[in-house]
Amino acid sequence: MNRASIWAYAGVASLILAVAVGSFTRAYGAGLGCGPDWPTCKGEIVPSMDFATALEYFHRVFAGLGFIVVAYASYLAYRLGGKARIWAFATILALTTQVLLGAVVVWYHLSPPLSALHTTLAIVTVALATGMAVELSNAKPA
Ligand code: HEM
Repeated sequence: MNRASIWAYAGVASLILAVAVGSFTRAYGAGLGCGPDWPTCKGEIVPSMDFATALEYFHRVFAGLGFIVVAYASYLAYRLGGKARIWAFATILALTTQVLLGAVVVWYHLSPPLSALHTTLAIVTVALATGMAVELSNAKPA
């Protein structure tokens, strides 16, 4: 495994954590645990916590962590060029859209079609991040 693929797999792991906490958030009806606020949570950076707030808050924290790690892996993939660069573009585009869609989901009070789109795009994003990791693990070290 080279450095870039380690970052890419770490990004996949972070996204899976975000997906897991997101699924609990939905299952417990905690989607508005931060209120209809984004990027703040109940108007604050670190709000007072109850169970619902903690679920939505940590969903966002893991999504943010995933974004940082995947963005760095995408940068390393971009520098490699070739197919890795195409995976990097597709992955960062899907992830950025997913984060912004998450914001729209809360602004629109968990509108069902938007929430369903958020679930669907989560699958696409994790698939693309995994594809980038596989591509990077077959590439020459950066
Ligand atoms: C800061 C950015 C994000 C915000 C504000 C956000 C917001 C939300 C909210 C409010 C829910 C609950 C929806 C409902 O109850 O109907 C949710 C669920 C979920 N989110 Fe996010 N999200 C973000 C980023 C992400 C990312 C990056 C991923 C994965 C790549 C993701 C995957 C999911 C999944 C899988 C669910 C559960 C859907 C279900 O069980 O049907 N989210 N998100």
